[in-house]
Amino acid sequence: MSNNNIQIFDTTLRDGEQVPGCKLNSEQKVVIAEQLDQLGVDVIEAGFPVSSPGDFISVEAISKIVKNATVCGLTRAVENDIKVAAESLKYAKKPRIHTGIGTSDSHILHKFKSNRAAIIKRAFEAVKYAKSFVEDVEFYAEDAGRTDNEYLARVCEAAIKAGATVLNIPDTTGYCLPSEYGAKIKYLKENVKGIEKAILSCHCHNDLGLATANSIEGVINGARQIECTINGIGERAGNTALEEVVMVLKQHPYLNLDTNINTSMLFGMSQLVSDSMGIYTQPNKAIVGANAFAHSSGIHQDGVIKNRATYEIIDPRDVGVTESAIVLTARSGRAALAYRAKNVGYELTKLQLDDVYANFLSFADRKKEINDNDIHQIIETSNVYQ
Ligand code: KIV
Ligand code: ZN
Repeated sequence: MSNNNIQIFDTTLRDGEQVPGCKLNSEQKVVIAEQLDQLGVDVIEAGFPVSSPGDFISVEAISKIVKNATVCGLTRAVENDIKVAAESLKYAKKPRIHTGIGTSDSHILHKFKSNRAAIIKRAFEAVKYAKSFVEDVEFYAEDAGRTDNEYLARVCEAAIKAGATVLNIPDTTGYCLPSEYGAKIKYLKENVKGIEKAILSCHCHNDLGLATANSIEGVINGARQIECTINGIGERAGNTALEEVVMVLKQHPYLNLDTNINTSMLFGMSQLVSDSMGIYTQPNKAIVGANAFAHSSGIHQDGVIKNRATYEIIDPRDVGVTESAIVLTARSGRAALAYRAKNVGYELTKLQLDDVYANFLSFADRKKEINDNDIHQIIETSNVYQ
């Protein structure tokens, strides 16, 4: 792994699956995990094994079939969670235990009714215990986004001392601004003793719509792993969307940060997850939404037909979409109509186009979107054809 390679840690099957209304069975999870492995993700967080017998079975089944990626199981900083996770991961070629504890004052005082020193001790012991089962142990400091940086640095040092290979810095409540989250990562890079022994990981939630921006700021400031889900699904407003962070890095090569993702699988992956979970993706969703490469206003259509790059920053084929769509509505102009007419077999002269366009407008005012059959009808009922 080069120092500029960003590890993609997919948590669709763990944090993503916590989305209300979604329940995947073990077979569906295995199918998604196989596809994630093909997609090129570096880590698949397969579940939270102690949470239910079903989750245990899924993590075990995924461990058996994944060929390339590391398979990871989540735990609390609780011995039995860690023991059960290790058991569920025993068939994995590359197993990782992801253990941790809340570190913000709000978690320490209200959730654990504890104190800062005791939490550091629990963090250390959890990592140490996980290390007795697997080499690769990731530590999460839940609510790190709202944890005081100086204290967070001490927690990270304890986790590294106990053998953590990855330090996950979650913005659990999606509260941080990008500049704040980036500064937190920079602070940890510069102030945690032993940081060269571990990598920092971004785990951002989207409560303020900032998960992608925060993750990108994280890697610009030195983190080397991004935790994310397909379509950004997850609790509340969701997690960082995998397809977004991957394409941000690909489309901004001067950042000199890359991933191992085969981006041409992104659209198919999005559809697989949305169909399996029964959670439909909003049409304007970046990268994978139905309208992400659709142009409907006349000015934009004219620009795209002359040169795609006028209004498109991504070649749709790079994410597995065959071509951009020129959608015909009453807002469309002559260029779009001529383009679509040509696609269905009519080469119109300028005069013919003027005549067909008038007919098209009165048709489009009555019908929201014009399809290929409508185009035949519009042309054949125009004066041109009489
Ligand atoms: O958001 C979060 O803090 C988490 C941790 C359990 C990793 O999902
Ligand atoms: Zn989370």
